[in-house]
Amino acid sequence: MPVITAPHAFNEGQLYVDLRPTFGRSLFLKCEGFNFAGSIKLKAAIEMVEAAERDGLLTEDSVLVESSSGNLGVALSMIAASKGYRFLCVTDSRCNLSTRLLMEALGSEVQVIADLDANGGFLGARIDYVRALCASDDRYVWLSQYTNPGNWGAHYRKTAPEIAQQFPRLDVLFVGAGTTGTLMGCARYFREWHRPVRIVAVDTVGSVAFGGEPGRRMIPGLGMSMRPPLLDESYVDEVIRVEEADTIRACHRLARRGFLFGGSTGTVVSGAMKWLAEHDERDLTAVAIAPDLGERYLDTIYQSTWLEDLYGDEVLKSLQASKGPRGAERLAGAPDRGQEP
Ligand SMILES: Cc1ncc(COP(=O)(O)O)c(C=O)c1O
Repeated sequence: MPVITAPHAFNEGQLYVDLRPTFGRSLFLKCEGFNFAGSIKLKAAIEMVEAAERDGLLTEDSVLVESSSGNLGVALSMIAASKGYRFLCVTDSRCNLSTRLLMEALGSEVQVIADLDANGGFLGARIDYVRALCASDDRYVWLSQYTNPGNWGAHYRKTAPEIAQQFPRLDVLFVGAGTTGTLMGCARYFREWHRPVRIVAVDTVGSVAFGGEPGRRMIPGLGMSMRPPLLDESYVDEVIRVEEADTIRACHRLARRGFLFGGSTGTVVSGAMKWLAEHDERDLTAVAIAPDLGERYLDTIYQSTWLEDLYGDEVLKSLQASKGPRGAERLAGAPDRGQEP
């Protein structure tokens, strides 16, 4: 029976969903949303705050500040509240309303940036805001998830060993890429492991993290409008890019089975299923990481007006068409030869 006194002391690390009944292919989805911050970002947040404490960067007067699309902001809000620090989250207009309200409920201040930068994203503008703040007052302490080694270190020390312990014969690991903290921590760990593991990064179309053209991205968490400073591509075997419409289809397909996940999980699952369809997956042990759950996306990914406004009729209709009885799909249990999960 876990009994805790601090919210960050609990984090479920051993829960997987086998997606075979939903997609016809075995993929073990590691669920990272079962903690009080509701996402994988709890691990990076703890690691970075504790490193700052060890380095003597935090005093009673300090105000933590971070640029975040939301989940790190929630995790830092929770830790700051628990440890008695002030926290200011600099986010942007793509941040879900519920995520913003969560941070405020935990006592944080939230600054929303609404102007796009030259790359069609908000990141440059968010970082400029944080830099100006830190230059104006030395009480501000910027943890900088984009460059902080604690970000990938958390996954090297926790996420990857958790997977290795459960899957000693792992063949392929699918990891979504935002700051690439999760990706780099896991990739570094498995590079040193006792057997080779193929590391497949999953990115969003419109992200420039691995090169490519910048484009509109509406789902927070994955993708970057600059090259991630933490990224070392020599550790990454393959990169898959997923259209947001496919992300949404994957999210809704999971929801139809009762598994309500966040947007980046839809991206990773969609990319992974496409990859598995193109490889002989029968003898492969494949794991993907699900960074959070779906409640924070009820007014976006799971809301038909939002979907119709942004992605048009076609996506909405394809979701409605798949809403019929799913008995046939379940009984068939056959791999989905169309690329589309
Ligand atoms: C929902 C979600 N998925 C994925 C990621 C990406 O993780 P990382 O920054 O470790 O690449 C994030 C990061 O904020 C996230 O919030």
